[in-house]
Amino acid sequence: LLNFALVLADSLSHVHSENTVTFNRNDFPPHFVFGAGTSAYQVEGAAAEDGRTPSVWDTIAHSEELKDKSNGDVACDQYHRYKYIVLKDDMPLLSVYSDGKGPVNPKGLQYYNNLIDELLRHGIQPYVTLFHHDLPQALEDDYNGWLSEKIVDDFTAYADVCFKEFGDRVSYWTTMNEPNAIALGGYDRGTIPPMRCSYPFGANCTKGNSTVEPYIFTHNSLLAHASAARLYKRKYQAQQKGFIGLNMFATWLIPRTDSVRDVKATQRAYDLYIGWFINPLVFGDYPETMKMYAGSKIPTFTPQQSELVKGSFDFLSLNYYTIMHIMDDSDSLKLKERDVYMDMALKRLDTWDGGSNDESQFPIDPLGLQQVLEHFKQVYGNPPIYIHENGQRTLHNASLKDTPRIKYLAAFIGSALNGIRNGSDMRGYFTWSFLDLFELTGGEKFSFGLYYVNFSDPDLKRHPKLSAHWYSGFLKGGNISS
Ligand code: NOJ
Repeated sequence: LLNFALVLADSLSHVHSENTVTFNRNDFPPHFVFGAGTSAYQVEGAAAEDGRTPSVWDTIAHSEELKDKSNGDVACDQYHRYKYIVLKDDMPLLSVYSDGKGPVNPKGLQYYNNLIDELLRHGIQPYVTLFHHDLPQALEDDYNGWLSEKIVDDFTAYADVCFKEFGDRVSYWTTMNEPNAIALGGYDRGTIPPMRCSYPFGANCTKGNSTVEPYIFTHNSLLAHASAARLYKRKYQAQQKGFIGLNMFATWLIPRTDSVRDVKATQRAYDLYIGWFINPLVFGDYPETMKMYAGSKIPTFTPQQSELVKGSFDFLSLNYYTIMHIMDDSDSLKLKERDVYMDMALKRLDTWDGGSNDESQFPIDPLGLQQVLEHFKQVYGNPPIYIHENGQRTLHNASLKDTPRIKYLAAFIGSALNGIRNGSDMRGYFTWSFLDLFELTGGEKFSFGLYYVNFSDPDLKRHPKLSAHWYSGFLKGGNISS
């Protein structure tokens, strides 16, 4: 099995030619880590066991709102099969608490203690994300989850438990996974839980209907992140010597044409997709364009909130998959509609799911990873960056010969190396995903895994694909070309 974080590679020679670059693991900085990720709802299963209660994802996966009829009830059954090694795991609130708050569920703690111990026993360092899309349904029902400021205290209390119970063995914490994707998908477009939307975009959009909600979600999640991160820094960091950060969904944004209008629209798009969260973290306030376009809809940071949020991270992590082309949409009649995209008067021309039903439904351009690293270097003062997710989506099938995935990984790891050579402070790379899992953008239909899992197999065995052998070989020092 793979053992990424601690693999030491032999030094091998490397050759650069005009079109292909050959490199190996030793070309990366000495403490650079490699790994592979999963998330709780997508792999754990055991949906109704040991005091676990539903998250918003359980509710949606069992409703008619998603077309795919699969769900994460069993998934890879990692709850019982945690001894099959995993390399990064995102913790759910629901196993640690029964109802998202109140008394801690000892069985939840036990499971994560077992999992962490098992990882360490194999020389694998866990990088833990506290919230990966799976808000307890109880909190959604109780006070509308992230739309209430009450979430700040509940999230901080939950984080406190995790730091206290696991922080002796976990050194890398990420508070939230892709809050920017939730702001837009969960509260603007209504495509992921809690399926709320700013504008009625079709059948999925039955809840929400207030254009203010994406902005409130973002404000509360920034406060919750900052409150948890400050708690870690105040109460645990000196003793536990770990690090804490926030994760973002990142894409390289390209103007459709080189007209001033499209170029400016692309800058606004960066403000929307990245700056909405990262400007407050780095500068203490939302981007000026967002404040201008959103007007009174976007909350104002009090001086205390701004101080709390600004600088509340040791590193940032990015999930990088694809590019988007952007055009100015100021003249469009759609401006009269009420969604966040149009608040910014821009239009995205490539979308994750926009294409046909073939294997790679999103544009692949490895250069984009380097460009996004460059964006963080130039705009945000070169913070330490981890790529927490990057991988190739294919249709889920039994073929273990996933050559396209190998090509994808080689190209993107090469792009990351170029970014580092250009001065980006990138510290680690995790491919998504370790196992084939319940995919949030398509149930069991799609696969990202280095390991194939047949969801109908009663033993849910993990089968290494070519990419697993390839990744392992690279981490042991083998040369790769991209
Ligand atoms: C985004 C999410 O963090 C993860 O849960 C999902 O499986 C992948 N990226 C691929 O869509």
